[in-house]
Amino acid sequence: MTDTSAFIAGLPKAELHLHIEGSLEPELMFALGRRNNVDLPFRSVEEVRAAYEFSNLQDFLDIYYQGAAVLQTEQDFHDLAMAYFDRLAADGGVHAEIFFDPQTHTDRGLPFSVAIEGLLSGMRAAEARHGLTSKLIMCFLRHLDEDAAFNTLRAAEPWLDRITGVGLDSSEVGHPPSKFEKVFKAAGERGLLRVAHAGEEGPPAYVWEALDLLHVDRIDHGNRSLEDEALTARLVAQEMTLTVCPLSNHKLCVVDDLTRHPLKRMLDLGLKATINSDDPAYFGGYIGANYQAVTQSLGLTRADLVTLARNSFTGSFLDEERVALHLQAIDAYAAGPV
Ligand code: HPA
Ligand code: ZN
Repeated sequence: MTDTSAFIAGLPKAELHLHIEGSLEPELMFALGRRNNVDLPFRSVEEVRAAYEFSNLQDFLDIYYQGAAVLQTEQDFHDLAMAYFDRLAADGGVHAEIFFDPQTHTDRGLPFSVAIEGLLSGMRAAEARHGLTSKLIMCFLRHLDEDAAFNTLRAAEPWLDRITGVGLDSSEVGHPPSKFEKVFKAAGERGLLRVAHAGEEGPPAYVWEALDLLHVDRIDHGNRSLEDEALTARLVAQEMTLTVCPLSNHKLCVVDDLTRHPLKRMLDLGLKATINSDDPAYFGGYIGANYQAVTQSLGLTRADLVTLARNSFTGSFLDEERVALHLQAIDAYAAGPV
């Protein structure tokens, strides 16, 4: 391990953009398929991995929704979450705010309770096993309509004290944030925080809408904001956190080469960028691999890495005291011998 690799591995970090269904590794997909008698359109783990060649977001989503069909019981969601948290802990992750897509599961007949109870149980077990903390963000699928999102918000009512926020994911182009203005307002009135995927494939106008119509607390991805100077200035002035996902961007052809990834430019412009894995089982690596890959391809310095790790906590939904403790831990680590 080089000095910088070791520095990244030990750097305390939080993950703010992780779809738990996207952490379903092919091995677990097959194990759950067998356990639940769900047939998969693949014969082997190798065949699954070979299918993970995407030319855009929709290519990926088609296969990702298919894979999620093996998740049937609370135990499955618990196991899925634990497998992710084990990987996070191994990468120096100490906190995660994880997305889940209830509609992907309720639309195939699972009760709302199954996914959320399994995930909450995995989150508790991860805290006991690794000492890491986590929060849950419920995403609405934007290719579905706003009524369906309202139904999901209603179904979530008994669990709202255990859900930190709502998000917006799935096919971006053609499904602007404005489509979900009312349901985001209702979520805000229920005390939920708000985030939205914007500017991954969609235009800067979608990022403006996420800010002005959805009143988001973070922007997920946000890459295309850089095409609009006024928007960039707004995001800098507002200290808006962007949850950037480098390996995802490469796999989904949002960037053609990691050496041209905008992360370094974002930092230099004063944007509050963070590094995240998005759907690590599909995009070739967990949070540590994302840090390592951009550090190599963009020549990030230790100061950049410390900034990125600090941003992951100041941009998190943890309370101020906990954030301060994590920042102290980063500073102590950066001043240490590694
Ligand atoms: N973008 C939009 N929707 C998603 C993604 C993504 O990267 N991953 C899972 N759902
Ligand atoms: Zn995402």
